[in-house]
Amino acid sequence: TDIFADRRNSQGVNLNINSQHHAFMDKVKSFYGKTWTVGSIVNGKTLTSGTKHQVSMPQNKSVTVGHIHWANESQAKDAINIAHAAFPVWSRTTVESRALMLEKLADLLEQHSHELIALCNMEAGKTLQDGIDEVREAVDFCRYYAQQGRALFAYEGPLPGPTGERNELFNVGKGVFACISPWNFPLAIFLGQIAAALVTGNTVVAKPAEQTGIIAYRTVELALEAGIPADVLHLLPGGGDVGAALSQDPRVIGVCFTGSTQTAKRINMALAEKDGPISTLIAETGGQNAMIVDSTALPEQVVRDVIASAFTSAGQRCSALRVLYVQEDIADRIIELLQGAMKEMVVGDPLDYQTDVGPVIDAAAQQSLNEHIARIRKEGKLIATVPVDESVMASGTFVQPTAVEITSIDQLEKEHFGPILHVIRFKAKHLNDVIDNINATGFGLTLGIHSRNESLAMSIADLVNVGNVYINRNQVGAVVGVQPFGGQGLSGTGPKAGGPHYLTRFITEKTRSNNI
Ligand code: SER
Repeated sequence: TDIFADRRNSQGVNLNINSQHHAFMDKVKSFYGKTWTVGSIVNGKTLTSGTKHQVSMPQNKSVTVGHIHWANESQAKDAINIAHAAFPVWSRTTVESRALMLEKLADLLEQHSHELIALCNMEAGKTLQDGIDEVREAVDFCRYYAQQGRALFAYEGPLPGPTGERNELFNVGKGVFACISPWNFPLAIFLGQIAAALVTGNTVVAKPAEQTGIIAYRTVELALEAGIPADVLHLLPGGGDVGAALSQDPRVIGVCFTGSTQTAKRINMALAEKDGPISTLIAETGGQNAMIVDSTALPEQVVRDVIASAFTSAGQRCSALRVLYVQEDIADRIIELLQGAMKEMVVGDPLDYQTDVGPVIDAAAQQSLNEHIARIRKEGKLIATVPVDESVMASGTFVQPTAVEITSIDQLEKEHFGPILHVIRFKAKHLNDVIDNINATGFGLTLGIHSRNESLAMSIADLVNVGNVYINRNQVGAVVGVQPFGGQGLSGTGPKAGGPHYLTRFITEKTRSNNI
């Protein structure tokens, strides 16, 4: 039987339907005004003894969303101790009971979706559509990994026994996993990591990004409400020192990390150098994502997909388009259409329905993006920059979406995680150089292709070393179970979140040859 036949991805809300839109907005807005106070959650208890950090809205710095008490070293030790002690029992519960808890959690996320969308908006500056998509993806991860867990553990069982002995293969969790997640998907990636580790029988200590501890806190509360035992899942909000403490602890057998390439390498070093068993690193890191457009492409379609790929979520997706290569024959046309489309773009309050681009996450990100824009505008030729109201600009950490024509991908120097698009013209005869240059960055996350020449598109898709290729569409918003997501090289260790083989990274296999 096809065990996936009854799984449907979550539907969310269609904001284009007026009646849905207004009711939805009223409910989301009802969660504003509350001031949150959160901290670590260790063994089901909220701890607020660590240092207190104020959280304000990225789009409106004068509004305080709440306060987070960061975890301290003794809380980290306690959480690991308890998770370590809980492992033998949790890993022996049936996969069915673990999967049912994740499905219950998915239901709870849907029931609380307005609150979670409001939190994504308040704490991470997400637009309504991004908030809706975020909750949907988190729900999908829970249900998908529940099913995948059942499927994986269903492979347990008899192997051939040519000499008459009974040979069997089992899957077991590895132990305590540290799940270290980013602010750009504060709910979906945060929970996706946790769900994968839990369903495979591991216990978890989760460290969310320091910018988005409140969403993480509310999510762990819901996970505990869904029946995940208090000794199995712990939350340690905080900065790099908490992540380091987790990676260095000999009882942490695996780290599931999404964030920068540099941090992934540091974690890998810590895992290699610490005492104890050889630990696993599952890492999803950055990108230097390109799109290649040849002269057979349809310009209107290209520009629609470029806008979505480069500027959705204010360019703060690891999948986002950074470098658009356009064959010179249609470059002028594409650039003209791009200018027109960027003129229509609305930058502003992410709670407004008409807003396309909200703020970037914080002042440090804003400053680094603005420095890059200033430099690259000098080196290259400005295509368009989206004007932003002065009052909007003054209220929060906004960056003007900008497109600049340059001549080489090397001019980027590093990943710029925001609404900045670089455009490079190429001659048809230099297509191989384009492919070589993209591969030479060492990153390998997403690639967009626009072409009506199928054999050319297929050969580009084959030659560029990336995890996710998208042809004649945008290159963001991988859907759970549909576009398993993750890259290679500097972009990660290769597992595909939301894919059929992801869970295998979280288990060990054990055989039993029985002569009784
Ligand atoms: N999964 C996300 C996307 O595909 C990653 O940023 O856009």
